[in-house]
Amino acid sequence: MALNHILRFLLCLLTFKTGFSAEISVFVQTGASVQLDIQTQQLPEFELLAWMNDKSENIVRYSDSKRVTPHDSYKDRVVFNDVTFSLTLKNMQKTDSGLYTARTLGSKTTDLVSYRVSVIDSVEAPVLTVETQNWFSGNFCTVNFTCRAHELMINSSYQNNSCSTQEVTSQINTLTLNCSEEYIICNHSNTVSWKQDRTNITQLCIYEENKLNNDQSVSSLLWPVVGSVALCILSLLVFLHFKYKKGAQEEVVKGNTVYAQVEAEDQTQEKTGNDRPITVYSTLGQHKKPTIPPETDHTVYSEVYKQPNEKLSAISADAT
Ligand SMILES: *[C@@H]1O[C@H](CO)[C@@H](O)[C@H](O)[C@H]1NC(C)=O
Ligand SMILES: *[C@@H]1O[C@H](CO)[C@@H](O)[C@H](O)[C@H]1NC(C)=O
Ligand SMILES: *[C@@H]1O[C@H](CO)[C@@H](O)[C@H](O)[C@H]1NC(C)=O
Ligand SMILES: *[C@@H]1O[C@H](CO)[C@@H](O)[C@H](O)[C@H]1NC(C)=O
Ligand SMILES: *[C@@H]1O[C@H](CO)[C@@H](O)[C@H](O)[C@H]1NC(C)=O
Ligand SMILES: *[C@@H]1O[C@H](CO)[C@@H](O)[C@H](O)[C@H]1NC(C)=O
Repeated sequence: MALNHILRFLLCLLTFKTGFSAEISVFVQTGASVQLDIQTQQLPEFELLAWMNDKSENIVRYSDSKRVTPHDSYKDRVVFNDVTFSLTLKNMQKTDSGLYTARTLGSKTTDLVSYRVSVIDSVEAPVLTVETQNWFSGNFCTVNFTCRAHELMINSSYQNNSCSTQEVTSQINTLTLNCSEEYIICNHSNTVSWKQDRTNITQLCIYEENKLNNDQSVSSLLWPVVGSVALCILSLLVFLHFKYKKGAQEEVVKGNTVYAQVEAEDQTQEKTGNDRPITVYSTLGQHKKPTIPPETDHTVYSEVYKQPNEKLSAISADAT
């Protein structure tokens, strides 16, 4: 604001001193309006104030009798403010580009201000294209993409939640590229307008991640198969191992396994006498299981009791 005032002051000074200011550049979007101000409060005395174009046509004339006369060709689209003396031109077209000057006529002709007006079209919308080559390097979603607008183009790559901010310019147009954590934003702009195209990076990367996971899950279907095959082989090996171990203890007849069995018979003979030592004969026994699965151990317990010594010894041995 302050700067603006200073600029205006300088401009006034310049105008006052030389009676003519430098051209002020103004950009107007095609079809839009533009307001041109005289930029000074210290008007010289005048009989006529006019806004002129560079074809020396008086767009509007204002006489000291407060009479406003617009030019025929501008009649429908010009507004003149007879307090501030500003000129507003509506529906600007490219052919309206050029120099506009405010001039007072009196005892002396004074140019108050000049505007270099450029009427330009609004920018084309840029097109952000995600190239097909997306892949994960480490844990990062990497996306290569291109942003195009008119003759401008930026190639870039999104990686690790960012991309390098880039900018290319032609005469009046600028194409900038910016990435946030959520978007890749391509902004095509000129002095009168900007348009952008953007891509939700989250969406893109989640989508790609899912695709990647799907690819993995296809191959991961293999794992249960491999796993079960391995398990089968392992089981077989374990089975064979035990079978081999038992093979030493078992008779094999015609491929069938016959278990050698010892008839178990509890024969406890006790001979008791007062003077004689008591001997307990024991017992050769076996857990009888006619349909023993091969895994089951069968053990013959052999126990000898000797009573006089009150000594008990138990012998456990594998059945033979
Ligand atoms: C951008 O990439 C395209 C191919 O995708 C290539 O033709 C073009 O030359 C590249 N432009 C720049 C400025 O790197
Ligand atoms: C993607 O961009 C990176 C960096 O700009 C580049 O090194 C890489 O070759 C590009 N990959 C593809 C497939 O275009
Ligand atoms: C990714 O970015 C983080 C910070 O944003 C940084 O600390 C890290 O080193 C980067 N990793 C790579 C591989 O660029
Ligand atoms: C890029 O985006 C970041 C975050 O949205 C913002 O802070 C930064 O000013 C932008 N840069 C440009 C050049 O637009
Ligand atoms: C696009 O660029 C113009 C001009 O630099 C700027 O005014 C506008 O805010 C930018 N838009 C976005 C979304 O960054
Ligand atoms: C981006 O896309 C993701 C996934 O669809 C969504 O959850 C998120 O809200 C979007 N972000 C914005 C800022 O739209």
